Amino acid sequence: MRSIHPHKVEQAQKRLFREALSLRGFIAGLLFAAVITAVVILAQMYSLSVIIDAAFLQEWNASHYGHYVIILMGAVAVRAVMAWTDKWLGMKMSIHQKARYRKKLLKKIHEIGPVRLKGEKTGELIGLQLNGIEKLDDFYSLYIPAAIRMGTIPLIIFGVVMWLDWPSGLVFMITGPLIPIFMYLIGTKAGDKIREQWGTFRRMNAHFLDTIQGMDTLKLFGREKSAGRSINNVSRMFRVTTMRVLKIAFLSGMILELAASVSTAVVAVEIGVRLIEGMVGFQIGLFVLLLAPEFYLPFRTFGSAHHAGMEGAEAGARLFELFDHSDTDFRDRENNLEMVPDHPSLIQIKNLNFRYPGSENHVLNGVNLTLKANEVHTLAGASGEGKTTLMNILSTLIPYEDGEIIVNGSSLAKLDAKRWKNQISYLSQFSHFFPGSIEDNIRLGSRNATEDQILEASRLAQAHSFISELPNGYQTVLGEDGLNLSGGERQRIALARTFLKKSPIYFLDEPGSSLNKELEVALMRSIKTLAKNSIVFILSHQQQTMMASDRISILKEGVITESGPASEVIAARDTEVNVEGVFG
Ligand SMILES: Nc1ncnc2c1ncn2[C@@H]1O[C@H](COP(=O)(O)OP(=O)(O)OP(=O)(O)O)[C@@H](O)[C@H]1O
Ligand SMILES: [Mg+2]
Repeated sequence: MRSIHPHKVEQAQKRLFREALSLRGFIAGLLFAAVITAVVILAQMYSLSVIIDAAFLQEWNASHYGHYVIILMGAVAVRAVMAWTDKWLGMKMSIHQKARYRKKLLKKIHEIGPVRLKGEKTGELIGLQLNGIEKLDDFYSLYIPAAIRMGTIPLIIFGVVMWLDWPSGLVFMITGPLIPIFMYLIGTKAGDKIREQWGTFRRMNAHFLDTIQGMDTLKLFGREKSAGRSINNVSRMFRVTTMRVLKIAFLSGMILELAASVSTAVVAVEIGVRLIEGMVGFQIGLFVLLLAPEFYLPFRTFGSAHHAGMEGAEAGARLFELFDHSDTDFRDRENNLEMVPDHPSLIQIKNLNFRYPGSENHVLNGVNLTLKANEVHTLAGASGEGKTTLMNILSTLIPYEDGEIIVNGSSLAKLDAKRWKNQISYLSQFSHFFPGSIEDNIRLGSRNATEDQILEASRLAQAHSFISELPNGYQTVLGEDGLNLSGGERQRIALARTFLKKSPIYFLDEPGSSLNKELEVALMRSIKTLAKNSIVFILSHQQQTMMASDRISILKEGVITESGPASEVIAARDTEVNVEGVFG
């Protein structure tokens, strides 16, 4: 479990604060609400003290004191409206800010790219996306408004008290800061516990997701009970750490209440003594006494919001870590962009070496290969030889460093990656489907495709006949990740999606997998029609696919051991005993 350095949390808190301050409209609104609240508190307590003074000590005279009653009622009403405004502004600010961060997170995930995301970070990212950003909610809707109130209301009350009755003002001045000091002391302790809780939470998230996704496999191996037990264990740990955090939150709440009550009592005693001595008038004494709890209230609410603020800062630290993650990689790329050729027709791979970061072994060890337009080129090789890796490098899903890839004379490393991807129709080895109809999923290939284009792509992919036989045809809703279809049907929908995007380059990773021989032959016929004017690069070790190709290359132990016209390569292979064994 990775934990975040406390220093980083502090920095994140400052950054969240700074970013909140840049939302000037909201901040001004909150400040305005706080100042008005302070003014109506003064009006409310002043009129209350005058009314009580009049009722008990002076002659009550409705014509003289009546308007104080109206002021009192008005003040209570305005205060309620201000409390509502404050909440509303806080919530609006939080919604606004969360949307901003979500957008940024999605953009970042997109930038980092699917291949590098596949590492251990996925579970954590999902946790961030769903929960981390939600934790920022309290930071913006509770913590910031509470901080603004704490910075204004006590100050205004203190000024008035100082002016009316400075000895009480002195007591306010000494006791007021006690509360934030206590809070700080407890807060630093709570920080460690919150970090621990967050770590357990992330682990629980990732674990739960993995278990649900692998439920079928677990069931087949009869291991669902033990998976249940381990989820149970992780959840129990989460409960324990959560209770620890809550304990501290309750304790700090109690201490704040205690400090506020004791401070109010000190003011009461001090006013009482001076009242007896005749050093202060009853009405003013009462006014100051009524103000005392109002003076401490913003500190107390800030204290309870502090916990939410710490959680937000913790989540923020993780978010910012991701935002700042390897930014330089991408900036470097963006700095020297060269235009992508309009219709790339030649890709030359020269001496390409590659190993995955953190891994010792080279997957590619000096690959040399040329891909041309008007040619169906199939790369064969046993499982794990690095075929998909090579295709991902060519698609700029994985950055490469060692070797050259030249596209119509320009280096791939210098091309605008986004524009380059636009030139490629890519069939992934493991296609993903999104909730929605078959048509929606095919349309991902080209958003503005007409109905006819979708039908044409589906025919080319050998998908049209089975789709039109479904009761709802193209409107059939795909279950979670297309699970209500057979493997071959999913493959053909994925192919239709790839074909719908008309491109000068087709990269097809195992297009014939899960298809029977007849379908594979038919598919290759379609691919040949697509190949006119386009580069078609296929990864496969299936016989029909290879036989229908123009050129075959063989990848073995990180190098191309053979490359030539399909007929020649196959003829050479036919003399060997075990064709399948050689090809994969
Ligand atoms: N993200 C990754 N990080 C580290 N190693 C990886 C990663 N992806 C693949 N590998 C390793 O790189 C090697 C090549 O994998 P690759 O997926 O390119 O093989 P392949 O030829 O496409 O295999 P198959 O025919 O089974 O699809 C394998 O040994 C694999 O374990
Ligand atoms: Mg592969």
